[in-house]
Amino acid sequence: MKFDVKNLKLADGGKKRIEWAAREMPVLAKVREDFVKRKPLKNVTLGACLHVTVETANLMLALKAGGAKLALCASNPLSTQDDVAATLVQHYKIPTFARRGENRKVYYGHLNQVLDFKPNVTMDDGADLVSLLHDETSRQARSLSKKVWGSSEETTTGVIRLKSLAKSGKLKFPVIAVNDSKTKFMFDNRYGTGQSTIDGILRATNILLAGKKFVIAGYGWCGRGIAARARGMGAEVIICEVDPVRALEARMDGFRVMTMLEAAEIGDIFVTSTGDMHVIGLEHFERMKDGTIMANAGHFDVEIDVKALGEISKEIIEVRQNLKEYRIGVIPAKSALVSDRGAGIQGTGSRLGGRDDRKGGKSLYLIADGRLVNLASAEGHPAAVMDMSFAGQAKAAEFIAKNHRKLKRQVYALPGEIDTEIARLKLDAMGIKIDELTEEQEKYLSSWEAGT
Ligand code: NAI
Repeated sequence: MKFDVKNLKLADGGKKRIEWAAREMPVLAKVREDFVKRKPLKNVTLGACLHVTVETANLMLALKAGGAKLALCASNPLSTQDDVAATLVQHYKIPTFARRGENRKVYYGHLNQVLDFKPNVTMDDGADLVSLLHDETSRQARSLSKKVWGSSEETTTGVIRLKSLAKSGKLKFPVIAVNDSKTKFMFDNRYGTGQSTIDGILRATNILLAGKKFVIAGYGWCGRGIAARARGMGAEVIICEVDPVRALEARMDGFRVMTMLEAAEIGDIFVTSTGDMHVIGLEHFERMKDGTIMANAGHFDVEIDVKALGEISKEIIEVRQNLKEYRIGVIPAKSALVSDRGAGIQGTGSRLGGRDDRKGGKSLYLIADGRLVNLASAEGHPAAVMDMSFAGQAKAAEFIAKNHRKLKRQVYALPGEIDTEIARLKLDAMGIKIDELTEEQEKYLSSWEAGT
């Protein structure tokens, strides 16, 4: 069996963690039980490019139970849990190609090794496999893409890329946007990213959030979750948005709303969650206070302009695991982070390039090189939310296997009944019963005759 993982000796520890996560994934367990009986994926060779975490391992086991032949690679060079990768190979005999910290060349090498299995269904988190399959310059991609029945996509950024591909008429096979299921984005993006982003920031810095000015760029599903959790920890939350409706919503949810330029002068911690590029750049670094901490929760590492930050820094020092200090100009005697006064030098609006009114320079801190903070510096989403997202992924694989002949080269959402079924199974597992519509109510709600 082909594979490339860091250290097979980690396999036993990984197995225990995978089994622990499984306890929080009852919906996926139900799907797996059903798959064992029906084997709906018996003709499927499935190539998956997902964060290699304990939750993904449980998804792989469900897909395998459904009869699929599998190959897995990482969807981010920094998100792989090496013990999980080892377990998948050693204990579950699933070809896995993922090493935490792999460079770009190895990362793409691993994607190609998954494509070597000639998958007829692919599964992406960020659309990297599908993008490779659409590489017009590669003869191999052209021939492999003809064999693909369809693909499923896990995240907002991937769905945006795929919708743009479909719009240009170039999408070569149907795609199921699992991200667009309510049981995915309303829970995984909001509660999952919310909690695990805070977790990632705390593991990297161990700072006290209470009393800090916590700036979030993007008030989408992820941003809302991060904002709610940061407020819960006692931070003063500031939202930066470009969409007037979402900005208004943030204000009426009780948060301060301002431009990034304004926020840059006062924020202590910055998190980007927009799916956009260069949301924090040079003009913001210039204004930031000494001791400011930055992290990104959006899919790609382009939201914070890390290159520009490097260019203006005299020195970059790893101060803790997953935390780098960018020293800009002359360093002040005491960094805010070290003393945990948090706010640094308040309200001075420090500047670079001779405009610095303190003439002292400053240190800015970046978590996990601007990559997904919750995966690179923590363990990603808790299993209980991935339970629903991955039940959706497993159902999407079955949906593609069953319906691929009927599907067009478009981006589809999963049928609403699947969403409802996943929500019902989750409620069941939580021991929660809900009311049902009476016949009279159903009639009332679907008629137009009844008025005042
Ligand atoms: P969304 O579309 O619901 O929200 C994004 C928000 O960012 C929108 O309201 C948009 O107006 C705003 N925005 C765009 N450009 C901006 C700018 N320059 N300044 C300020 N705001 C801006 O998307 P969602 O679901 O919240 O996802 C956001 C990102 O997080 C995506 O890249 C997605 O793939 C990623 N994601 C990350 C996860 C993780 O585990 N860290 C989990 C799920 C999604």
